[in-house]
Amino acid sequence: MIIRGNRIKITPLSMEDAQSMRSWGTHETVLLRDYNFPYEGDREIKKWFRYKTFTIFNKYFGVHNEEGILVGYLGIKNKDFFRRSSFFGIVFDPNHLGKGYGTESLEIFLPYYFNEMKMKTLYLEVAEFNKRAIHLYEKFGFVTFEYYTDLFPVEGIDRSHPEIMASKSYFVFKDEKIYNYIYKMKLTKKRFRGKEGQVKGMIRE
Ligand SMILES: CC(C)(COP(=O)(O)OP(=O)(O)OC[C@H]1O[C@@H](n2cnc3c(N)ncnc32)[C@H](O)[C@@H]1OP(=O)(O)O)[C@@H](O)C(=O)NCCC(=O)NCCS
Repeated sequence: MIIRGNRIKITPLSMEDAQSMRSWGTHETVLLRDYNFPYEGDREIKKWFRYKTFTIFNKYFGVHNEEGILVGYLGIKNKDFFRRSSFFGIVFDPNHLGKGYGTESLEIFLPYYFNEMKMKTLYLEVAEFNKRAIHLYEKFGFVTFEYYTDLFPVEGIDRSHPEIMASKSYFVFKDEKIYNYIYKMKLTKKRFRGKEGQVKGMIRE
C-alpha cells in the first residue's frame, strides 16, 4: 500500500523506517523535546516499533521524500471500529520541518482515511503552544471542542526554565508540577468533504 503525493509517499511504517529515525535531528526547544526520537539501540527501537504497530487498533505510516529519505511518520491509534474514529499523530524529523511536508501529508492522508479506510471522525490533541501544528490542523478543517490541562511530558525541567517562563501563559504550575494547556480537536468526514477542494493541492476523489 502506497499513498503518493507530489513530493512524498506514505507507506506502512517498517522496522527499517524506525531504525532510520536514529539519524534524525534534535529539537532545540524544550517545548518540543518530547518529539525527539530517543532511542539508539536495536532492541529498544524494536520495542518502540512493536508498541506502535502490533495491534489492530493502531496504524502507523512512514513519510518519504523524493530522495526516499524518511522525513516523518504519522498514524492513528485507538481505532474505534464501531464509531469509525481514531486519534491522529504526526511527527517529522526536526531537520525537515517547515518544508510543507506536513501539509502534503495531510493532503493525501485525509482522503485515504475518510474514503479508503471509511472512517468518520479523526481526533487529536495538540499543545496550545504548538502554533505550527494548530495552524496545520485548522487549515484542514479541524475544530477545537475541548480545552484542558495535562502534565507537561518533559522531565527534568522546572518552572524557572527560560523557555517555560517565556511561554508562561501556556502553562499551569501546581505542586511542583508543570501542566500545559491542550486543545482537543476533531475533523468529521462531512466537514472534511466541505473543505476538500478549498485547500490548494487537495487531491479529489
Ligand atoms: C507539526 C508538524 C507536523 C508540521 O509539519 P511541517 O512540515 O513542519 O509543516 P508545514 O511546512 O506543512 O507548515 C504548516 C503550516 O504552518 C505554518 N507555520 C509554520 N510555523 C508556524 C508558526 N510558528 N505558527 C503558526 N504557523 C506556522 C506554515 O506557514 C504552514 O502554513 P501555510 O501553508 O498556511 O503557510 C511538524 O512541524 C512537526 O513534526 N513538529 C514537531 C512534532 C509535532 O509538533 N507534532 C504535532 C503534535 S500535535
